[in-house]
Amino acid sequence: MAVRLSARLSQIASYIGAGESVCDVGTDHGFIPIFLAEQGGHDPVIMSDVSKGSLAKAVSDAEEELSGKDIPQARLGDGLDVLEPGEVDDIVIAGMGGLQILDIMTWDFVKTLSYRKYILQPRRDSAILRKWLEINKFTIIEQCIVPENGRFSEILCVSTDGAEARDIGFYERKTLLEVFDNDPDLLARYEYPDGLIDPSETGIEMRYFNSELDKSLIIIDKIRQNSEAKDALDLHLARLRRLEKLCGKKN
Ligand SMILES: C[S@@+](CC[C@H](N)C(=O)[O-])C[C@H]1O[C@@H](n2cnc3c(N)ncnc32)[C@H](O)[C@@H]1O
Repeated sequence: MAVRLSARLSQIASYIGAGESVCDVGTDHGFIPIFLAEQGGHDPVIMSDVSKGSLAKAVSDAEEELSGKDIPQARLGDGLDVLEPGEVDDIVIAGMGGLQILDIMTWDFVKTLSYRKYILQPRRDSAILRKWLEINKFTIIEQCIVPENGRFSEILCVSTDGAEARDIGFYERKTLLEVFDNDPDLLARYEYPDGLIDPSETGIEMRYFNSELDKSLIIIDKIRQNSEAKDALDLHLARLRRLEKLCGKKN
C-alpha cells in the first residue's frame, strides 16, 4: 500500500530531489523516511530520534509498510550526532521549535555545513531561525506556508551554499534575541517575511496572515485591559502593522 503523507509532510518531502540521500532528524513516526524508502532512489534514507520508543515504533511501521523492500536506517541519538560529516545530502528537521532547531544546527557548525540542504519546519520562533540563517549566509531557496489540522506550518528549504563556518553559540543567540527585543518591527518582518509562498496556490498565505492579524487584534485588546502585560504591547502592535501591510489593509 502506498504511504500517504499529510500536506505538511508532503511539502517537506517535495524538497528532497530525485537521487538525494536524506536524514530525518527527530523523525518520531518515520512517515517521511518510509515514504522516501518506498519511492526509492534516495540511498541512504536515515531516520533518527532521541526517543527510543519513537524510533522503535518508526522501525516497526517501516517493516509493516515496506514489506520486502529496504527499510530506512534507524539511528538513536541527539541531532546530527547520529551522522558522519557529509553522509547524506539533505537533512529534515521538522515539528520542533526554532530554538531547538538552532541547538541542533549550532552544535557542530562545521558538520552542519557538510550537508547540502536543510528542510526546516519550525513550530515557533521562526524569526530567530531566519535571522540566524541570514547572518550565517545560508541561502533560503524557498519558504512556504502549508495548512494542517487547522494550523499553519512554515517550511524553509535552505541551502548551505555560501554559508560560512563561524563560532556560533549561546551568546550569539542571546544577542539575536536582544536585537529583536529592541526592534519589534524588525522581529515582525522576520516572523512574517516577504516572499512566503503558498505551494497550493489557493491563497493560503493570505488566510494565514489574516488569521494572525485577527489573533493580534484579540491579544492587543486583552493587553490593553490588563495593565500588568503592557510590556508586550509594542511587539503586538508591530505585528499588527506588519500583518495589515501584508494583508493590504494599510500601506
Ligand atoms: C513533534 S515530533 C515531530 C515529528 C516529525 N518530525 C514531524 O514533523 O511530524 C518531534 C520529535 O523530535 C524528537 N527530538 C527532539 N529533539 C531531538 C534531538 N535533539 N535530536 C533528535 N530528535 C529529537 C522527539 O523525540 C520527537 O520524536
